[in-house]
Amino acid sequence: MSKQQEANIAVSFLNIHSIITRALRVSIDSVRGFSQSGFKSEGSREGFFNYIRALASVINAHHLTEDEIAFPYFRDYFPEAPYDLLIATHQEMVQILGEIKVAVEKCEKNDQLATGLSNLESALTRLNDMWHPHIQIETDEFINNADALIPVQEQLRLVRLFGEHGQKNAVPPYLTVPFMLYNLPVDERKVFSQDMPAEVIQNLVPIVWKEKWESMTPFFLA
Ligand SMILES: [Fe+2]
Ligand SMILES: [Fe+2]
Repeated sequence: MSKQQEANIAVSFLNIHSIITRALRVSIDSVRGFSQSGFKSEGSREGFFNYIRALASVINAHHLTEDEIAFPYFRDYFPEAPYDLLIATHQEMVQILGEIKVAVEKCEKNDQLATGLSNLESALTRLNDMWHPHIQIETDEFINNADALIPVQEQLRLVRLFGEHGQKNAVPPYLTVPFMLYNLPVDERKVFSQDMPAEVIQNLVPIVWKEKWESMTPFFLA
């Protein structure tokens, strides 16, 4: 497959949805395990909360890219899609992201860890329950139809715009960039990283930022 064929709207959406889908499942499994058995080390605790922070930031950034760039653009190509429902669901998910932030802050106070983890599990589970039907609508409405309707060059331009917009909001990059890369299997990771600056892939992630993100490694794919 050529680079041009790979960098299309469907692949771009499928990759970010697949990152978030996996990370939600890993987060829910992990919070249940930590609720039962506690954290084995300070490193495992730090890694888990970094992973949750990165997940919340990436979800928020993805929704902003859809609300501010993708959906306004898609209205011409897919006028019948349920935009009001999709945007309303984003807003409901923002509320849950707020609950996740509060739960993480509670977990960081030693005497409230059990309550914090329980609140976190509840919020992540509700988010996951909303997430799957939401991305199914986006798959049916946009992903499955984009190639037939939107010219290849236009898709390339849009995918670049989505990427730039997402990077602006997915902060801090030293957590969110490795989080996105390593929640993807190797082949998808290569496609996902090919439009990122070489400096990010060859120097920042593996060297300069490594100390800041490596606590998340136990939650990542190899
Ligand atoms: Fe969405
Ligand atoms: Fe989406």
